[in-house]
Amino acid sequence: MNVLVIFESSRGRTKAMAEAICEGVKSEGVECEVIEAKKFSGLNNACALAVGSSTRMKRTLPQTRQVLAEMGKLNGLPAGAFGSYGWSGEAPDIISNELSGLGATLVNGQPVKAKDRPNPAALESCRELGRALASKCS
Ligand SMILES: Cc1cc2nc3c(=O)[nH]c(=O)nc-3n(C[C@H](O)[C@H](O)[C@H](O)COP(=O)(O)O)c2cc1C
Repeated sequence: MNVLVIFESSRGRTKAMAEAICEGVKSEGVECEVIEAKKFSGLNNACALAVGSSTRMKRTLPQTRQVLAEMGKLNGLPAGAFGSYGWSGEAPDIISNELSGLGATLVNGQPVKAKDRPNPAALESCRELGRALASKCS
């Protein structure tokens, strides 16, 4: 059983969030795998999922759109969305809506967003998301 965290990041900010989510997962004794969106090859029996992208031109980054298009039905899989942004921050909301549309059960009411480089509070919100995902895996 492991949590899968998929991210796409141009300057490493959303990547830092992905790594903090996995820290939270592992702190609960659950395994966690972080992968770049371009390396996505299926859910591989993940017990929960997080998907993150920064916002570019009010959209998610392209590989993340591809992952969401390929993912298939999620049948209640616990999931959450996240991402760094500069000013408007649409991508995490778009991801959240798409995950929900695919049938995921969102564990965080609101996606985790970090303006620019994630500060300690944003990283803690990421760890909290990771703990919430891990709690669905026992
Ligand atoms: C070409 C370009 C377009 C962007 N468009 C948006 C945007 O529409 N809304 C927004 O909130 N941030 C926008 N940003 C800001 C990025 O989302 C922000 O710099 C973010 O921290 C990058 O995170 P990353 O390192 O994970 O890619 C844009 C940045 C670039 C370079």
